[in-house]
Amino acid sequence: MLKEAIKLIRTATFKGALRLKNHSRIVGSVVRNHALMNILEAFEKCGILSRFVSQEGISPEKEPGFNSYVLRTVCEYLYEIGILEQSGSNIYRAKNPVRFKRLMKAVNAAMAYNPPLQDLDNLLTGKHEYGRDVCRDDRYDAIASDDVSEIFYYGFTEQGLRKTGTRVLLDVGCGTGAFLAFLDKRESYGKLYGIDLSESAIKEGKARGYESGRVKLVTGSALKPDDLRVPGMETPDTLLIMQVLHEFTDPEVARILKSIRAGFPGARVFITETPQRNTQAVKKRRTTSIPELKLVHLLSNQVMRTSERWMQLFSDAGYELVDSEMNDLANVMYLVFEPILQKPLFWEVHL
Ligand SMILES: C[S@@+](CC[C@H](N)C(=O)[O-])C[C@H]1O[C@@H](n2cnc3c(N)ncnc32)[C@H](O)[C@@H]1O
Repeated sequence: MLKEAIKLIRTATFKGALRLKNHSRIVGSVVRNHALMNILEAFEKCGILSRFVSQEGISPEKEPGFNSYVLRTVCEYLYEIGILEQSGSNIYRAKNPVRFKRLMKAVNAAMAYNPPLQDLDNLLTGKHEYGRDVCRDDRYDAIASDDVSEIFYYGFTEQGLRKTGTRVLLDVGCGTGAFLAFLDKRESYGKLYGIDLSESAIKEGKARGYESGRVKLVTGSALKPDDLRVPGMETPDTLLIMQVLHEFTDPEVARILKSIRAGFPGARVFITETPQRNTQAVKKRRTTSIPELKLVHLLSNQVMRTSERWMQLFSDAGYELVDSEMNDLANVMYLVFEPILQKPLFWEVHL
């Protein structure tokens, strides 16, 4: 080893050897992250990702429908970089199952916004437009959203909801319905309804068993007033819109609130949102995923707003703020609005 190092320095000079080392380190880490994400995404697409955390693991030679040479090469690489462990008869399993499960969640988040990121050259040059030529993957967006939400947002939102005394709830843009399944475990709620635009998210929620005697999930759009009237629904006292309204432009938010106000005149509206942050505030949090979150939201034309902006939009639609809470560390806030009941006019009271 020492002999080889001396030869390297003699040939490339000390400076050159150092450059080579740094080059290898940088390329190694950048390419490794890129390769790792692509491999895990491919495993997910082929339906074998979760099997690396199972007792049986994956044996490349015995996997029907796979090219065993390619599968072995990739598993070997993941073993070499410390992601998988290899046991006796060439079986590969996650080396650290807890960390591997975290990686699986990161894969869901990456896959949600892979389409616009892979198409960035066309978006950059204006050949493609987000929404017309390329869109995020809704199914992965809903799943990735569950992954993040269940850690803190669900508890945070539920604490706010509990204060309102909500019994019947309509969750607009419910994704897979994971939050409703979370509420279903608590006694204080009655019927819980969820609608979401994504058929595959609703299908996924049903497949996960989120529907119950209390929870009902349907496909529908928040932009269509008729869709908000879930067949057979008890009148909700709260409409929850969690991490959804930023999908819409100001006129669309106004349209949604107008149809909510017309369809459910007495109901409160509870929103959970990621607050808008300026570039300096995001830079300060660069060791978290906040910059990536902002990037994908903005690339996909989502509109992050400050609490003041939300209050203005709701006020224009005839709602007033009755409660709010912000958690800066988790980068989330909830705002609770109630309809402003119009005061009866003088002659309506006295004549
Ligand atoms: C970021 S996810 C939030 C999911 C869930 N509320 C949560 O917090 O975990 C946004 C959801 O909004 C849904 N969505 C987008 N446009 C919608 C629309 N027009 N009507 C209903 N749902 C919509 C998407 O399908 C997606 O499931």
